[in-house]
Amino acid sequence: MDHFLYRDGVLHAEDVPVPEIAAAVGTPFYCYSAATLTRHFALFDEALDGMDHLVCFAMKANSNLAVVKLLGELGAGVDVVSGGEYARARAADIPGERIVFSGVGKTRAEMRQALEGGIRQINVESEPELRALSEVAASMGVEAPVAMRVNPDVDAGTHEKIATGRKEDKFGIPIARARDVYAEAALLPGIRVVGIDVHIGSQLTEIAPFEAAYGKVAELTRMLRADGHEITRLDLGGGLGIPYTRSNEAPPLPREYGEAIRRTVGDLGCEIEIEPGRLIAGNAGLLVSEVIYRKEGDGRSFLILDAAMNDLVRPAMYGAWHDIVPVIEAAPGVEAAEIDIVGPVCESGDTFAKARPMPPVEPGELVAFRSAGAYGAVMASEYNSRPLVPEVLVQGDQFAVIRARPTFDEMLARDSIPEWL
Ligand code: LLP
Repeated sequence: MDHFLYRDGVLHAEDVPVPEIAAAVGTPFYCYSAATLTRHFALFDEALDGMDHLVCFAMKANSNLAVVKLLGELGAGVDVVSGGEYARARAADIPGERIVFSGVGKTRAEMRQALEGGIRQINVESEPELRALSEVAASMGVEAPVAMRVNPDVDAGTHEKIATGRKEDKFGIPIARARDVYAEAALLPGIRVVGIDVHIGSQLTEIAPFEAAYGKVAELTRMLRADGHEITRLDLGGGLGIPYTRSNEAPPLPREYGEAIRRTVGDLGCEIEIEPGRLIAGNAGLLVSEVIYRKEGDGRSFLILDAAMNDLVRPAMYGAWHDIVPVIEAAPGVEAAEIDIVGPVCESGDTFAKARPMPPVEPGELVAFRSAGAYGAVMASEYNSRPLVPEVLVQGDQFAVIRARPTFDEMLARDSIPEWL
């Protein structure tokens, strides 16, 4: 469920008409709903009710300071994957004890930054990384709280580019080698093992792969405890999928996901961490764009928008589907016709949808991409020197710009021309 509904034929973000925001900030822009973010966080929190747990929002899905701040105030922790995300988390007042650091290639500088600023846990993905962390922590005279990310060799059944838990993927330590790595970790200075971490992929639409992976983690927990390690925490990653189109079969609900967690690891007495990103932010955001032209090609029609692949790259990158709807609802009985929906960037890949049934929308009218709150703005670039589009947060009947559109002067000021030119 989200809070983007038509009222009297006009798409609203909570209580604010979308055209009102467009008039204030210009198009394209991202628009997030605070009520939807809040509701989605609460669904996960309730799904783990009764278990000692922390929901760590995967900031890579949406790292706007206002979004992170809102979730932090609800009690969320965060999962960060870079020094930049760590800095954002701290700027959004997330305390170190609620920050988990993931990622396959943490640098020593990032390790130092986290250990200095405060960190709940660092998820280590390889032996070389473990040794580097040991050196960094020991040189600072501190102990790094560590969970090893294990690769359970489970196929999440998701898009090739976002599957991470098969043995051919670059992520984690093969689960069969985990005992040896934990044995090494126990001997290293500056390392304090606290748990196990797993994450098998994103946009999962079945519970079974989670259950298979978590079952393996439970088995490993017992084995490591028998070896004398103290395993008090399990980080079960993110990955629960969302419906990208209303006609799709709905992915499992957080409640069902929570039940799978209880069934597999619920009896181990561990604190449970999860790292959902997409399900919290995805359907809490729209990308709003204006139609620039309708163009008749040879046997095809094109709707050319002012948004492009640099603003929302998911269709170009993964062939992803986003529902695209007119902001002013079509009158009943108006027929949809198939049209290609494209952006103005000079690449054929700048195509959001091919032969998409759309009611007639004319130049100057607005359309909205649904499910654009996760992996939307964060993956945007300035390709074609197109400024990053603004982000707006709506709460009830109020809205605020939470990232402004840069001016061309601001964009140009980041470059410099050497004096010898
Ligand atoms: N934890 C780890 C270690 C991750 O790598 C990810 C996502 C998450 C949590 C959050 O997963 P989520 O709950 O959002 O599925 N750009 C792609 C998605 C990449 C996901 C990468 N890792 C997309 O637009 O579909």
